[in-house]
Amino acid sequence: MKFIGIDLGTSSVKLLLMNEAGEILNSVSREYPISFPKPGWSEQNPIDWYNETIKGIKDLIKGVDKASIKGLSFGGQMHGLVILDEKDEVIRPAILWNDGRTIKECEYLNNEIGKDKLSEYTANIAFAGFTAPKILWLKNNEKESYDRIRKIMLPKDYLAYRLTGVFSTDVSDASGMLLFDVKNRKWSKEMLDICGISEDVMPRIFESYEKIGTFKADVADELGLGRDVVVAAGAGDNAAAAVGTGTVGDSKCNISLGTSGTVFISSKEFGVDSKNALHSFAHADGSYHLMGCMLSAASTNSWWMDKILNTKEYGKEQSTIGDDAFGNNHVYFLPYLMGERSPHNDPKARGAFIGMTMDSTRSDMTQAVLEGVAYGLRDCVEVARAQGINIQETYLCGGGAKSELWCKIIANVLNVKVIKPVSEEGPSMGACMLAMVACGVYKNVEEAVTKIVKYSKSYTPDEQIVSRYNERYNEFKMLYPALKDSFATMID
Ligand code: XUL
Repeated sequence: MKFIGIDLGTSSVKLLLMNEAGEILNSVSREYPISFPKPGWSEQNPIDWYNETIKGIKDLIKGVDKASIKGLSFGGQMHGLVILDEKDEVIRPAILWNDGRTIKECEYLNNEIGKDKLSEYTANIAFAGFTAPKILWLKNNEKESYDRIRKIMLPKDYLAYRLTGVFSTDVSDASGMLLFDVKNRKWSKEMLDICGISEDVMPRIFESYEKIGTFKADVADELGLGRDVVVAAGAGDNAAAAVGTGTVGDSKCNISLGTSGTVFISSKEFGVDSKNALHSFAHADGSYHLMGCMLSAASTNSWWMDKILNTKEYGKEQSTIGDDAFGNNHVYFLPYLMGERSPHNDPKARGAFIGMTMDSTRSDMTQAVLEGVAYGLRDCVEVARAQGINIQETYLCGGGAKSELWCKIIANVLNVKVIKPVSEEGPSMGACMLAMVACGVYKNVEEAVTKIVKYSKSYTPDEQIVSRYNERYNEFKMLYPALKDSFATMID
């Protein structure tokens, strides 16, 4: 039996073919464009997602016995607003998770409706990338599009809808809409009223590992696959990655170092952090999780390498940074290239290098970029620690986890043991595993994790380096508050 896992990411769609023992048989990735129409805005065309996914599936299953493919599921970039009209046509480009245009709408939600009410209804407060503020933004700025809305969905749910004809979402992704009562795993009537939308335009909710349907006949025929291939609801990419790295059960931690950087803490019980600095979402295994999200993580490094240094040789650039440089860099980088979500909740924050002297080098600045992301992750980890959550080890996945140097920096900045799963492809692995549960191969997500997830390497923090990094982190922590007001008045 074989299963397809689709990770609908921000830079590309990554597809994995896996057998029920968890062996990866093939993988394919296909890119699509992203547009930044204004500073801090970020959009993609859902039709590109679908077209590239179809091409990707065809590539993935070339030469494979089609009858052996039994199930498919997704991990998808979260929070993106996809809207369809009465003819099921996409009304406008999707507004993505890292889009910061909804400043006024968030102020309205957090201050006029009030954080207490939002937290009571949804377990969360408004962050610029969440879906509900985007719906309000449309109402305030593109009334014509808003009036045409007949279906609201999240990115991966658009793929599921095109593949199966079933209008659905899952609990983990729905949690990031600010329209979902996370504790009770159902739409929040109060929030739907606040956004002026009826439940009819919202998808049906499934647990991530549940079957939503099978391929539409035309899709099955185009792909040459059976019409009985089971499609499971899937999960937001972070919850799917957590499944793929084995982050299930109580107080396990996974860090994803992709375009975004996330700290994901699984929990059997529902819980909300006292300041709502971390998101409180439903998990793909049927339970809950807390999560902090940085808007620019591995993307800061690719920005620095591709756009500024104009090189593709990431490894060569990093090879100039030896272990003796850990904790000794006096250059700092604030990684807020798209504003920042956790914990600052500030779409106006911007990137900054600071602390350079005449002897600062290219290598110091490269190191500062990697460290800036690690300090940002630590900001999230510190919020969790302040809630009494004891994080001593974490899994690490995503493209950034390929860098040995970055793994070491993260272990020492966070003072945690970093454990790498055999595959960095967390979300697509998790998606395959959710499909397996939907097909009854495993009785639940935990069993799938026990049978499938394997780890390769770990990085243990060094006491002396940790203590040097503690001092550096204390300096880093002072920078955002010192610059916050300047960011707020900067003209884009
Ligand atoms: C999580 C978030 C990001 C995206 C990236 O809240 O916004 O991690 O899911 O794809």
